[in-house]
Amino acid sequence: MSKLALFKLEDYLSIREFRAPYMLCASDLETHTMQQIIDMADDQCRDLWNRLALSYTEPYGMPLLLDQIAELYGEKFGAHDILSFAGAEEGIYCACHALLDARDHAIVVTPCYQSLESIPTSLCDVTKIELGHEQQWQLDLDQVAAAIQPNSKLLLINYPHNPTGAMLSHEQQAQLVEIARKHNLWLFSDEVYRYLEIDEKDHLPSIASLYEKGLSLGVMSKAFGLPGLRVGWIACQNRDMLLAMSNVKHYLSICNSAPSEILSLIALRNKRQILDRNLAIMGDNIVLLDNFFNDYRDLLEWVRPRGGCTGFVKLNSSESAYDFAEGLLQDKGIVVLPNSVYDYTGNYFRIGFGRKNMPEALAKMREFLDSRAL
Ligand SMILES: Cc1ncc(COP(=O)(O)O)c(C=O)c1O
Repeated sequence: MSKLALFKLEDYLSIREFRAPYMLCASDLETHTMQQIIDMADDQCRDLWNRLALSYTEPYGMPLLLDQIAELYGEKFGAHDILSFAGAEEGIYCACHALLDARDHAIVVTPCYQSLESIPTSLCDVTKIELGHEQQWQLDLDQVAAAIQPNSKLLLINYPHNPTGAMLSHEQQAQLVEIARKHNLWLFSDEVYRYLEIDEKDHLPSIASLYEKGLSLGVMSKAFGLPGLRVGWIACQNRDMLLAMSNVKHYLSICNSAPSEILSLIALRNKRQILDRNLAIMGDNIVLLDNFFNDYRDLLEWVRPRGGCTGFVKLNSSESAYDFAEGLLQDKGIVVLPNSVYDYTGNYFRIGFGRKNMPEALAKMREFLDSRAL
């Protein structure tokens, strides 16, 4: 077992995100205020909120909240098929620690949110399947099959994909499940961007509903735009697996924040309203980005995202994406995320289009590009 690597992505953002006016690489949707969420409460939730005691909460999560989360996975799922966590992050940590030890092998699709790669790497051998811009960021299933070893135990995926916005087709998803089943792999599916498909026909069933060894990771942070609640969950048909993860959780957060559980319940009971607003923001912003990338097509190329609220933009310049990002930050107060934080070679940066002030940030980026002869 090795130490966890420096979390380059969070490290990069932690000293920039809260100081710069324009977070043009945000991985979440526009948020709501607490009052806006409370105003959405039905009578039951308002009563729960008014009577809320700040005691410890149930380790798996508040039963009413778990019921509400289970609805996202279809009729087969109930509260007992869900374990809640402090954000999605804790879910990744608990799943990897419950499953992996030094004898195992894991496979991860990269570039990815760093935990999906660094946590398994701290526990066992890991093979990376690298996506490429030239392949429109599409996953090659033959590469996945070729990476499987006799001791492979876990395959980690994330669709809709951060940072590229790529999706799996329904057929690819079914084939991936078949590969996992054939080799008896656990399939960890980071679905924090589920419900953010640009075309709703691309909406995929959860892996947990398709596969008996599937783990579906969800969270209030991304599609619902409420990361400050720090409420995430894993849905899984296998109760022993949920129990094993809950044991790891006992060493971490123990239980959710009590106010966050009620606020999450209110938000999920109003999910259509929240998602519709968020999809509208993304829909307007992506059109602006289409025009923007068309205007700067010699310098910047993107594969239009099909889901999620991020894209990975190719910078055709001798300047590194890192230096480009630093210049943008210093001149215009705009944060983008260069490929170096993903340990991904080439010249790319992540852009996010889930925030209301994206048009203003984009106008500033235009000023920046127009003022420089790159
Ligand atoms: C793909 C993905 N998974 C998980 C996480 C962690 O989410 P949370 O902040 O809710 O713990 C992130 C955060 O950026 C992410 O992008």
